[in-house]
Amino acid sequence: MLIRLDKYISDAMGISRQDAKKLLSKGAVAVDGKVIKKGDAKVGDANRVSVNGRQLDYKQFVYIMLNKPKGVVSATDDKNDTTVVDLVKGDYPKRNLFPAGRLDKTSTGFVLLTDDGDFAHDILAPKKHVSKEYIVTLDAEINDEIIGKFNSGVTLADGTLLKSAVLEVTGEPMVVKVVLKQGVYHQIKRMFGVFDIGVNELHRTHIGALELDKTLAPGAYREITAEELEKIVFNEIDN
Ligand code: URA
Repeated sequence: MLIRLDKYISDAMGISRQDAKKLLSKGAVAVDGKVIKKGDAKVGDANRVSVNGRQLDYKQFVYIMLNKPKGVVSATDDKNDTTVVDLVKGDYPKRNLFPAGRLDKTSTGFVLLTDDGDFAHDILAPKKHVSKEYIVTLDAEINDEIIGKFNSGVTLADGTLLKSAVLEVTGEPMVVKVVLKQGVYHQIKRMFGVFDIGVNELHRTHIGALELDKTLAPGAYREITAEELEKIVFNEIDN
């Protein structure tokens, strides 16, 4: 997408549109090596924009992976609780970040924050089937029958029939791996609830094929690279 050069400069440098226009009229701005003075010139990711000879690092959108700690809510703002956006906004004061998908307040792990509405819509759209993977600590053992029910589709207490999900043992007693292709409210807790099993810990490790960076401590975050972003595969096939 192309945007106005004065907006590009003001976003990239964190300055007002007026100050960006002043730089332009002084002849301080070059696009791909050529001095440009008009604020309404259109530029995009493919252009190199420099101010006084220094190239600007401009990103139209940002994509952040956060290791959500317990007690933090997956929202943009909240009267009572710290939100996932509160944890990162100091570094991104001019971005309208929001979480693309939710984890419960008591859950931990991978939350993706972005200001790219189309991308967020895509990873949440039921038809796109972006899988989410979790490590779940239970208060009881599972058995082959429960694994089979997850595989064929669990019916929740309210009658909702869910899509097929993966349930696997991990080798640690009462710790299992769950892979979901949909996002129903409190889905994992409700799925195990059908079998009278409680969830003690729930940690999201993957969105699509992208794994949460294991070096991120609870509350820590970093930007997702373009290469990593491609690992969040959009799969249109219905199943
Ligand atoms: N399922 C749940 O029950 N809680 C979460 O946070 C995510 C999936």
